[in-house]
Amino acid sequence: MPKVTYVQPDGTETVLDLPAGSTVMRGAVAAGVPGIVAECGGNLMCATCHVYTADGEGDVFGAVTDEEDELLDCTAAPRLGTSRLSCQLGLTAEVNALTIHVPGAQT
Ligand code: FES
Repeated sequence: MPKVTYVQPDGTETVLDLPAGSTVMRGAVAAGVPGIVAECGGNLMCATCHVYTADGEGDVFGAVTDEEDELLDCTAAPRLGTSRLSCQLGLTAEVNALTIHVPGAQT
């Protein structure tokens, strides 16, 4: 079961064991992790599920699609090289542990 550690800007951590088939966004919203708003419910229309993956860990999710890339230009917090939309980060059984940094702003 993938273990996802959500790190807030102040360093506070929330660690969740999430089932394969979920997403980094869905797990966070269901558990009430602050800072992941996900206004559109995962339909790739809002960019309020923006997160930063830990260096190198974003690769397990595959490349950013054109649609995700376009929305990543609309995030409230600065876009970095590790920026992803967490609704597009699907968890599989191959994912053991991930660290996700929550940005300081989503809207
Ligand atoms: Fe809206 Fe991810 S939840 S783009």
